[in-house]
Amino acid sequence: MTIIDGRRIADEIKKDVKSKLDELKTIYGVTPTIASIIIGDNKESELYLKLRDKASSEVGIKSKHYRFSKGVSKEEIIKVINELNNNQDIHGILLQQPIPEHLSLYNLLSNINPLKDVEGLTPYNLGRLMMGYEKIIPCTPLAVLKILEYMDVKLEGSNIVIINHSIIVGKPLSILLLNRNATVTVCHVYTKNLKQYTLDADILITATGVPGLIKEDYIKKDACVIDVGITKTSEGIRGDVDFNGVKEKASMLTPVPGGVGPVTIACSLMNMLETFQNCMELKK
Ligand SMILES: NC(=O)c1ccc[n+]([C@@H]2O[C@H](COP(=O)([O-])OP(=O)(O)OC[C@H]3O[C@@H](n4cnc5c(N)ncnc54)[C@H](OP(=O)(O)O)[C@@H]3O)[C@@H](O)[C@H]2O)c1
Repeated sequence: MTIIDGRRIADEIKKDVKSKLDELKTIYGVTPTIASIIIGDNKESELYLKLRDKASSEVGIKSKHYRFSKGVSKEEIIKVINELNNNQDIHGILLQQPIPEHLSLYNLLSNINPLKDVEGLTPYNLGRLMMGYEKIIPCTPLAVLKILEYMDVKLEGSNIVIINHSIIVGKPLSILLLNRNATVTVCHVYTKNLKQYTLDADILITATGVPGLIKEDYIKKDACVIDVGITKTSEGIRGDVDFNGVKEKASMLTPVPGGVGPVTIACSLMNMLETFQNCMELKK
């Protein structure tokens, strides 16, 4: 059984991003700068933001924060998004999630220039993904793909089960894997008899936020198990997988922490590189 080292994969991605960014900075003499829009207070978002900013600064990317109170209007956020779209000193835009309920994620994301869309969540970039013209891919699905590629896991013809159907994880990930000719099943809270599906998975990807949901008897022998879930518990950070039980049966498994999390942050840097390149192309 192999425990997948997410930190090592992340380090390789970061090294690659840094060397490409150094090259671009020499050519254009510009420091890549990414704007994060943060609405309200959310402890988990703040932690993620801190980690992402640290990783960004390590590869030479500057972060700028645009903070708003929880009650901010849609008009105010759209105004700032438009300013950032038109600001030549900003090379990427991130809308930190979750956002308050009175705001529509679709509405806000639709206003971000797809060329500056670091999260790959604008309808344009999701549409490209859907049509097989992948350009900027949402960070967590991209992280799962990078892990599977790094570990040389065969995708074509494999049965892949994803437990999650959110717009940031399950939906784009299912398309990403379909684009690689996997047979993909997407499960969620309304799935009847979850185990019936997971037992058939060559690759099981879980992102429910329910600690310990996936036990040894949920997985096929020698399956590859990717645990995206992150939950803060009184015993520390936990994934969806009952690690000790599942590790006896899986062929490979991502730990939590130290699995998908660091790779997601590294993939966010990959996307920042992409949006920076887009902005530099426009300058030519
Ligand atoms: N490692 C990383 O880099 C990373 C990145 C993003 C998110 N995450 C983590 O991934 C998890 C999901 O994040 P999210 O933003 O996608 O959350 P979300 O929108 O709440 O999605 C959770 C998904 O799991 C399903 N689900 C919940 N409980 C279930 C159960 N008992 N059985 C079957 N399906 C169940 C939900 O179905 P319904 O919608 O039908 O309820 C939904 O599809 C969280 O733990 C989050 O912290 C990690």
